[in-house]
Amino acid sequence: MKTNFDFLMPSVNFFGPGVIAKIGERAQMLNMHHPLIVTDKFLQGVANGPVAQTLASLDAAGITYAVYNAVEPNPKVRNIQAAKALYLAEHCDSIITVGGGSAHDTGKGTGIILTNGDDITALAGIETLTAALPPLMAVNTTAGTGSELTRHCVITNEATHLKFVVVSWRNIPLVSFNDPALQLDVPAKLTAATGMDAYVQAIEPYVSLNRNPITDAQCLQAIRLIEKHLRPAVANGHDLVARTGMVEAEMLAGMAFNNADLGYVHAMAHQLGGQYDAPHGVCCALLLPIVEQYNLLACPDRFASLALAMGENTAGLTTREAAELAIRHMRQMAQDVGIPASIKALGAKPVDFPLMAENALKDGNAFSNPRKGTKEELIALFQAAYDAE
Ligand code: NI
Repeated sequence: MKTNFDFLMPSVNFFGPGVIAKIGERAQMLNMHHPLIVTDKFLQGVANGPVAQTLASLDAAGITYAVYNAVEPNPKVRNIQAAKALYLAEHCDSIITVGGGSAHDTGKGTGIILTNGDDITALAGIETLTAALPPLMAVNTTAGTGSELTRHCVITNEATHLKFVVVSWRNIPLVSFNDPALQLDVPAKLTAATGMDAYVQAIEPYVSLNRNPITDAQCLQAIRLIEKHLRPAVANGHDLVARTGMVEAEMLAGMAFNNADLGYVHAMAHQLGGQYDAPHGVCCALLLPIVEQYNLLACPDRFASLALAMGENTAGLTTREAAELAIRHMRQMAQDVGIPASIKALGAKPVDFPLMAENALKDGNAFSNPRKGTKEELIALFQAAYDAE
């Protein structure tokens, strides 16, 4: 019997040391016979690393596969085109991504152009997809973008330097695996950048216009966990307790913004990432205090609650004073984990800001920002992030 429903099953999120061993069995349950593994050469080369463990589990389940190993940071249209060509040449029937947000977004983008038309730039926006992607599972190795469990796919058009987002429930991987034991060797710098992304992804939905009581709870718990675990994870990558706490936090933040959406930090960070090919987490961390200072006017009570979740003592303070404390705390967090002070470090140039401001206002993450900005205001925010010391 054929139904009108094109999805296979609700998504399942496995979490904890050792969960990667389940992937072969899950691939069988999804009737995957020859998945395309989407990853990068570095991860593929790590002895007993995330790719090796994924393939070992698939081998044990008798599942064959092809490997696309050319994922780039800030995945480009050329990456998903190349992965699609390999998928078709190898007669694949499904996709398994192994890596951080770049691998998952490459896998999602490949799935999108396999079933929704070859020009992904025409699909930028919210709920633009009309056909199901091939079955997709995601093995996550950073904490993190949350892309292994969200409906967001972020791709850069290398011809125009425009980074855009395709937001659709059809993008959500059917199964995600977050195994903190696979994250112990992530370098401190990458831990800091991806951890700051998770931090921003817990803060933006908390002040988003689309927030609700459930996403609020997810955000506050994610923030408490990041406050406790990000600094230790940066200081010592092999701290399994800190890695586990960061995995919990990034999953909670991903679940929160999957429903409550993000805001101008992400809308503007995508412009920095697209224009200068800069690391997403660093872009977000640099913009966070600037944009939230600007947003404070819209919802000071929300920022006062954030200060409490961040561990600040707000007793005796006015709402405004507590809210300001939250902004200062965000700046301190970025500094503690080694994020540079200004977007100058990314190669940003003020001459680019007018176009970037215009494109940020069109980004799929802009609409839920609590304060409605003008192009001139966003230029001023980029300038403030440039002048920051
Ligand atoms: Ni992000």
